Amino acid sequence: MLILAIESSCDETSAAVIDGTTKIVKSNIVSSQLFHSQYGGVIPELASRAHVEAISYVVEKALANAECSLESIDAFAVTTQPGLPGALLVGANFAKGLAVKTGKPVFPINHIEAHLYSGFLESQDIEFPFVGFVVSGGHTSLFLVESFANYTVLGSTRDDAAGEAFDKIASMLGFPYPGGIYIDKLSVTGDPEAFSFPIATVGEFQFSFSGLKTSVRNFLSKTFTQEIPENIKPDICASVQNAITEQLLKGLKQAVYAYKPKTIVISGGVSANTSLRAKAELLGIQTSIPVVIPKGEYCIDNAAMIGLLASYRYTSTSPSSIKFSVKSSSLRSPRK
Ligand code: KG4
Ligand code: ZN
Repeated sequence: MLILAIESSCDETSAAVIDGTTKIVKSNIVSSQLFHSQYGGVIPELASRAHVEAISYVVEKALANAECSLESIDAFAVTTQPGLPGALLVGANFAKGLAVKTGKPVFPINHIEAHLYSGFLESQDIEFPFVGFVVSGGHTSLFLVESFANYTVLGSTRDDAAGEAFDKIASMLGFPYPGGIYIDKLSVTGDPEAFSFPIATVGEFQFSFSGLKTSVRNFLSKTFTQEIPENIKPDICASVQNAITEQLLKGLKQAVYAYKPKTIVISGGVSANTSLRAKAELLGIQTSIPVVIPKGEYCIDNAAMIGLLASYRYTSTSPSSIKFSVKSSSLRSPRK
């Protein structure tokens, strides 16, 4: 069964073709809306317009790279929630149009659930139950996952998502949006213990990054009356990264020790972070539990993960799901 999947929940327009039986990703095209960096965050209205401009080309390119025709597609899958409502509508309506044209079903997929199961793009040998950790610009949530249909949310962030904290602090340091990757890169030559930033004490499986953000802002305004010297930035970045990843690791450890899962799966844009990956891999060695983190292109928002989850959830004989609604959610709000 060939699935054409579409993702447009935030600032990436993506389409992918996946073989629903073998789970082989035949193509995965991502068009990122880089222009938002000049505004320091995603502007919802501009994001919707850019999706409209990109979506036809992105879908055509996904079909071309997969060397298949629209007629050979057996089903469509599309992100319907959570996300920016206008952005979601572009992908959902495009997928519905294709479904109407071809007479094939279209399956609605939840974006966070797609991140949660995206580890299966890396390895099909992931054993249930697994502790899933979705860390991105919009989400920081821990899950206990029993199957493709059943999971429990163990805890989430009380305020900012981890990626949001990276991006907001990066902006204070003068890096363009989204700045997580700049903090990661500069941290390589910095000392993670140079400055001591707070790691919030919150309930089990919970996270909070607003105190850290305030602490860094106060530190910068008190310490540097003018420009922040370039030679100090690596130490600041490494110390900030250490505070964020230590808190993430703390929550992850609590879940792993409490539920003793068969696998640990980390996904979402922040799972590309070098320090988080190293700390998670060490935890895997210490506990003898395999750790699966998708490769970079499947950490960020992508349509392959949408198609993959559809392939596990639906079959070619599933009834058509053309009548679905698009919902926005408090889990993902516009970032500024
Ligand atoms: O999953 P994603 O592409 O979009 C959302 O669903 O939000 O995640 C984007 C987030 C951004 O906040 C970005 O700064 C962060 O992932 N990010 C990183 C790294 N690469 C991306 N944060 C820290 N270190 C990185 N290497
Ligand atoms: Zn995402």
